[in-house]
Amino acid sequence: MQAQLNRILEEAKVQLQKAEQQSQLEEIRVKLLGKKGELTQILRGMGQLSPEERKETGALANRVRGEIEQMLSEKVEAVKNAAKAARFKLEKVDVTEPGKKVTLGVKHPLTITMEEISRVFMNMGFSIVEGPEVETVFNNFDALNAGPNHPARDMTDTFYITDDVLLRTQTSPVQVRTLMKQKPPIKVISPGRCFRCDTPDATHSPMFHQIEGLVVDEGITMADLKGTLDSFAKQLFGPETRTKFRPHHFPFTEPSAEVDVSCFKCGGKGCKVCKGSGWIEILGCGMVHPNVLKVGGLDTEKYTGFAFGMGVERVAMLKYGVDDIRLFYENDMRFINQFK
Ligand code: DAH
Repeated sequence: MQAQLNRILEEAKVQLQKAEQQSQLEEIRVKLLGKKGELTQILRGMGQLSPEERKETGALANRVRGEIEQMLSEKVEAVKNAAKAARFKLEKVDVTEPGKKVTLGVKHPLTITMEEISRVFMNMGFSIVEGPEVETVFNNFDALNAGPNHPARDMTDTFYITDDVLLRTQTSPVQVRTLMKQKPPIKVISPGRCFRCDTPDATHSPMFHQIEGLVVDEGITMADLKGTLDSFAKQLFGPETRTKFRPHHFPFTEPSAEVDVSCFKCGGKGCKVCKGSGWIEILGCGMVHPNVLKVGGLDTEKYTGFAFGMGVERVAMLKYGVDDIRLFYENDMRFINQFK
């Protein structure tokens, strides 16, 4: 029996040596120490031994069991540690490895220009309103005092969707929407896309951007219009900038004007940018026509207002010296990335 115990111990050593996984260790444990295990069987048979032998064999059996248990738990620990080490190796993060470069996008030059213009007006107390690009003929033309025979209503200029619906040709219909929704005091700008049936060339695009402005309250005069737009021009193009208001015609304003700014490139002496004149036209404006104010149900004896509208592409082309409007829509990164 003692020989058997020693053999079990030796075999256990060999098997434990070989085992590499926890499941194998568990098998060994059951096989030797479990209820039906070899060691347990032997201990059960001890009853048949003489007291002398029983004492000696019992001591040996206990030692063997102790040793096996000890070896088992050491091996279990070792296997666990090995598994952990393997996992750590696999999951190791090399903090010295160079990071992946994230390429940040840049703002489109038209976005930059629109934000810049908007910021100037917001600092003067204007809020921003928006209108839809798909508009009614009424809002885009009729309500803006552009009668049925106005040349802009010609099919060649306007993308019509139905007889009554079109792609807005200007941001001015937002004036109409604002007047119908809001009571004075009104002081808003509205940036957005416009569409005209134009063949693309260096200065024309069938889709372009405008920023509209509308101020309506009691006692608004042409002096407010001139002061506001002169201040705007100085903030956008520099404090030396001078403005010139030239009489013009728009159906929705009376009187109407076009505003020129002194050339920010040559200061007014005449250069390529201002085509030698010293002046650059940047926007249209005027005192809101009473017929437009009436659309909002306003008392035109009590309320007056001014409006203005400018082309964002035009301002961006002037500011950045871009000589072809089509560059804005091609999304060539070599172009876009220059405006970081
Ligand atoms: N809507 C005009 C255009 O597209 C621009 C404009 C001129 C807007 C005068 C205005 C204005 O609000 O008062 O040419």
